[in-house]
Parts: sequence; structure tokens; C-alpha cells
Amino acid sequence: FPVENIRNFSIIAHVDHGKSTLADRLLELTGTIDKTKNNKQVLDKLQVERERGITVKAQTASLFYNWEGKQYLLNLIDTPGHVDFSYEVSRSLSACQGVLLVVDANEGIQAQTVANFFLAFEAQLSVIPVINKIDLKNADPERVEKQIEKVFDISSDECIKISAKLGTNVESVLQAVIKRIPSPKAHQKNPLRALVFDSTFDQYRGVIANVALFDGAVSKGDKIVSAHTQKTYEVNEVGVLNPNEQPTHKLHLKKEDLIEGMYPVDQSEYNNLKSAVEKLTLNDSSVTVHRDNSLALGAGWRLGFLGLLHMEVFNQRLEQEYNASVILTTPTVPYKAVLSSTKLIKEYREKEIIIINPAQFPDKSKVVEYLEPVVLGTIITPDEYIGKIMMLCQARRAVQKNMMFIDQNRVMLKYLFPLNEIVVDFYDSLKSLSSGYASFDYEDAGYQTAELVKMDILLNGNIVEELVTVVHKDKAHTVGKAICERLKDSLPRQLFEIAIQAAVGSKIIARETVKAYRKNVLAKCYGGDITRKMKLLKRQAEGKKKLRKVGNVEVPKDAFIKVLRTQ
Ligand code: GTP
Repeated sequence: FPVENIRNFSIIAHVDHGKSTLADRLLELTGTIDKTKNNKQVLDKLQVERERGITVKAQTASLFYNWEGKQYLLNLIDTPGHVDFSYEVSRSLSACQGVLLVVDANEGIQAQTVANFFLAFEAQLSVIPVINKIDLKNADPERVEKQIEKVFDISSDECIKISAKLGTNVESVLQAVIKRIPSPKAHQKNPLRALVFDSTFDQYRGVIANVALFDGAVSKGDKIVSAHTQKTYEVNEVGVLNPNEQPTHKLHLKKEDLIEGMYPVDQSEYNNLKSAVEKLTLNDSSVTVHRDNSLALGAGWRLGFLGLLHMEVFNQRLEQEYNASVILTTPTVPYKAVLSSTKLIKEYREKEIIIINPAQFPDKSKVVEYLEPVVLGTIITPDEYIGKIMMLCQARRAVQKNMMFIDQNRVMLKYLFPLNEIVVDFYDSLKSLSSGYASFDYEDAGYQTAELVKMDILLNGNIVEELVTVVHKDKAHTVGKAICERLKDSLPRQLFEIAIQAAVGSKIIARETVKAYRKNVLAKCYGGDITRKMKLLKRQAEGKKKLRKVGNVEVPKDAFIKVLRTQ
């Protein structure tokens, strides 16, 4: 295909602004899929995507379009919209020269619109603003045009107003792709150079990689080397996505000149789960994996995710695609400590260490300072919710950096958040206090000094190793109290009183008590039925196998699960 007739582009937008619907219309217009079929989000292939109505994995399709006597090959890469998946967005963008920035004509610019725009802008891509849903009763495309001009400095003349649902003006989007997005620069005569921007594992065919070709050509039978791992692979098949796989002889361009711990519910499932995790992480390389062992839960993994939805989706995919059943524990963030003791520096070989496991938390006497990861958050909201949102941010230890009205009654707020404060339920709280109107996105902003402490949980004075946590000094009491309460609810009464305590160093910061109770399994047996007595005693002994002893206190596995897992 002549390279000057090729365009590589992505569609980026805030969640629900209509990327997938626009992609469906583009596929129909180019005859890639049949118009008569009920096309709903053809590119959203995963079950989890259809169920949640969101795009998780970027999908690709090649469209052929005839215009002004020339045939064009338009490679469309669909991108996810949610904050957690901006990694997928960046990867897709590195294979593109331009983007369609879709904005809802009613909702206007949202936090993810801003984040996505800057990803594209930094990658020096051509940005075509598309105002979608102009058919809606409350649509106000002129107001959105003004927002685009104010926030992105793009002239309103460049905006294309469409209804992806009805198909209105969608053809002009295709033409703008051809006119405004440059063709890729590639050199067929050079050796093969391609960027793998996505990959999946197929049980029968092996690894399937989606690539953007930069130089050279690749055919069946070729031996290729991964620049990242230096491993060699043999190519079994090459092809394009249209939108389903279509084999071709060759891929080339005709022209001279991109923390969580997880455990199997049943340990005998460990190996099956291991292979499922390996296949899924091949598909989503933004997940980092470390092996881990918990006294209470057995062998498992510490997994690094980009956010809570990312984690939930990974879990759901494990269950749906690999039939695996897992226990997910409450996520933590990677803290750092700058060491002062030379002995420790020798042991760790470095002055600054990352604390992934609370058990490795170095004592304050050996540390110059502790550091916690921070993110720069963008919130866009109708102005009536500003007060409540500011209070929420303050409670999460956030520092305001900026505030700007993007039109008469919509405000963009910028805050520096400790990552730990937003990783679990910030997004849900923000949504509920703004009746769903505020949007949120965040980007990495490095580390800041933090007063961190290690918190122990004790049962009758003995430390429960699996419940040791690292918390900010100001939050120790709240977090400790919550853990003690949850443990109280899930610990069965025993023959003696149990004191549940949260402690920082030698200082007790929260306490709950489980009263004594005598569980007499024989109470129900009156008289002499000896076989029944034996049966009950045996059952009690079996039950004990599932218990872990902390000092003299017996803790069932269930109690750990209730305290550790995400609610
Ligand atoms: P994610 O993949 O989750 O990021 O969402 P998306 O941006 O792909 O949005 P999607 O295409 O799934 O559309 C979201 C909702 O908006 C769906 O209910 C669509 O039917 C609706 N929608 C999309 N385009 C239009 C439009 O032009 N007009 C109207 N009225 N509704 C639209």
C-alpha cells in the first residue's frame, strides 16, 4: 500500500462520550462491517467490556476508504476512556500520527478529555476535535466549541459537529482524517522495525501481536527479535484486522523512504492460576507481578495495577476468561524510605528503598525521611459542588494547585493528592457527592515527604503478621479502628476474652474486645449416642485445620479474608 495513502489514528475521549459508537459508524461507512446488522460497539470484544459498557483493551481495525479517486488505508485504534487505562491510551498513541478528540455536546470537556488531549499533544499528534451527540435535546455545541478554544487553544473552525448515533456528518470525519493527519514515515528498504502496541495469547496459535510497522517488512516464516527481551520468535502468520483477522502474505509499506496481593481461594489451584495470570499479563503489560507468601492465605502474588477499576477488571477477566477464583486484598501504594544507617544501606545496596511489603518497613531511627507517591488530579465539576469537593479533597490530605472556570458555571480544579488517599474509594465519593457530574483524572507527580508509621494489629498482645500496615501518621487511628472493628465482627468467640488492638510502636491507638464464650459441641447430644459424639468431635477437629493460631487465639481463614479483602 503506498504509504502516502495510509493514516494511523486513534479516537480518544472521556468515558461515554461516544468513541465506540463513532468507531462503529466509521466501520460501516467504509464497508468494513455490514450496515444492516445491529452494530453496537463492534470493537468492544471482551465480555467485561460489554457488561460494564466500557472499553478496556485497545482494539484495532483497518478501514479501506475511496475518496477523490484514491484508495486509503485508515488504521483505527480504539482506546479506553477510563482513568485507569491511560496506559493503553499512550501505547495506542505511539502507533499513530493523529487523533479524533471526541467531546459530548451536552457534557462538554471532562477530566479525561483534558488528560487525553495532553497525551496526544505531547506526542506531537494532529488533533481533530469532534463534538458528538448534537442530536441530544440539551446539546450545546457552541458552548463546547468555546471550551475547546479556551482550554486547548484550538480554533472553533476546526471542530466537527456530529451525531455518531444517527450518523450525521460522520463522513466529514473520515475526510478530515485524510486531510489533516499526516501519513506515517517509513522505509521499506531498512531492516524491520515495528512497535508492538498490544498482544494476546491464543491457546492454539501462540502469541498474537498487534504491531505498527515503522521500517522494513515482515512475512510468514521470518525470524524476529524482541528489542526488549532479545528473544527470537518465528512468525507463523501475518495479516490485518478488518475488523476481524484477515491473513495477508506480508506486512510492508511501499515507499522509498511506540499493588495488590492476590491469592487462590484453594491452594491446589495455584498452578492453574499462575498460568492464567501469565497469559493475562501478556495481554496487559501494565500489571506488574511479584510472588508473595502470606501465613494466612498461602502462596499468591503481589500485583501492581494502575488503579482500582484496572484491578477489578483484571480480576473479572481472570474469573470469566480463565475460570479462576481469587482473594484480592486491600491495595497499597509503593512507599519509599531514605536510609541513614550505613549498615542498612549495605544490606539494601542503596540509600533509597521502595517498601512494597510492610514487613520491610525500616525503623524511624534508621531513616532520614519516608516518601509517598503523589498524583496531580484534575476535577471538572459544575460550580455548585465546589464546596463539598474541596472538603473531600482536604480530608484526603490534598493540596490545591489551581482553579479555573472553563465556562460560566463549570470549574476545573487541580489538586496534588497522596496516591494512597485516592486509590480505594475517592472516585466513588466524588461521584456521589456531585450527583455523578464531577469527573476525575490524575497523572503521576513523583514522591513527597510523608510522616509514615508502621501499624501492628495485636491479638491478646501478639502481633498478627499478615495485618501489619503502613499508614500516614494522621490516619493511623481511623485505619486502625476500622481494622479492629472488622476483625471483631469476623472472629468467633473463644473460651477466653480476646483483646484486639492496633498499635504504633508501643502506643495503642485502637481497641476492641471479643467476649469469652464456651462452644460446647456436645451440648446437643443428650445421653449415650457415642457414634454421634465422635462424629461431632471429628468435625470440630477438621474445622481447626483451617485455623491459624496467633498466640493462644484461633483465627479462621475466613476472618483474615474478611479483614484483608477489598469490600
Ligand atoms: P467507553 O468505551 O466506555 O469509553 O465509552 P465510549 O466513549 O466508547 O462511548 P459509547 O460509544 O459506548 O457511547 C456511550 C453512550 O452514548 C451510548 O449509550 C451511546 O448509544 C450514546 N451515544 C453515542 N453517540 C451518540 C450520539 O451521537 N447521540 C446520542 N444521543 N447518543 C450517543
